[in-house]
Amino acid sequence: MKSPIPDYLHVVLENARPIEDGKPASYIDTLARADTSRLAVALATVDGKLYSAGDDQVEFSIQSISKAFVYAIAIEDAGLEKVLEKIGVEPSGDAFNQLSLERGTHRPMNPMINAGAITAHSLVISPTATAEERTDRILKIFSRLAGRQLHVDEEVYEAELKDADRNMGIGYMLKAAGILTCDPREAVKGYIRQCSINVNVRDLAMMAATLSNAGVHPITGESIIPQWSVRQVLSVMTTCGMYDAAGDWVSNIGIPAKSGVAGGIIGALPGQVGIAAFSPRLDDRGNSVRAVAMCQQLSRDMGLHMM
Ligand code: DON
Repeated sequence: MKSPIPDYLHVVLENARPIEDGKPASYIDTLARADTSRLAVALATVDGKLYSAGDDQVEFSIQSISKAFVYAIAIEDAGLEKVLEKIGVEPSGDAFNQLSLERGTHRPMNPMINAGAITAHSLVISPTATAEERTDRILKIFSRLAGRQLHVDEEVYEAELKDADRNMGIGYMLKAAGILTCDPREAVKGYIRQCSINVNVRDLAMMAATLSNAGVHPITGESIIPQWSVRQVLSVMTTCGMYDAAGDWVSNIGIPAKSGVAGGIIGALPGQVGIAAFSPRLDDRGNSVRAVAMCQQLSRDMGLHMM
């Protein structure tokens, strides 16, 4: 029997198309020049079916969506105890690029803000690893999660690196606070490289569905992230994945999620589906306006809200 899901995804897409609010990220030229008409949505089920509509082959940089998966890798490489010693799990309520260190412990508030993500990156492999070694490992795991070989967008990487004063500043503050023990430049360079990995919505839906499927890839059957680590990642995505819009998102859409500044959003509902949406124009909290609208419709129509 033909599945009605592809037709349904076209409806979701066309409902979001007229929305013209927001602006693409402007801090680097490559993102500012993005084609704002781009629009795509994908859905992957835990039993291995993948559906998509719109510009589903168009690649964009994963950006902050990488933070959720690198947090999982840091947990695997350094152990949860060490990770919790260095990075908190509380929503900061601040923008993603605020330093937001916890009073007393000086830990970044959570792994989804830049300070926490740079720290998580530094815990991949070991504090003495180079940015290249860490990003190689990250790229390999992201490729297994997506189910195809992914690549770094070198143009995005170079542009972000040229404009990295704020992230470098965060790196040096983390070093001064005793949170980073490696060279802060290496950690920030690696963090920027992980953000510059290109994906399309189908890749992201598969990556999200692997989280939904307790770390086991729904198509290849490979166990990529341990189940207990997935629990930690999804918890932090629920409370901190959408930055200062996390409360709105959880009450409206109710799916553990993560957004990126290139316009991508993933949502992972345990035991059910991974969803991904993309369109470049962002709201003032840095989340794609049309992608939020598409996720909201999917959540309402398919009853994906956790509660
Ligand atoms: O750290 C940065 O500035 C970017 N490379 C990634 C930030 C990002 O995606 C924020 N999300 N909405």
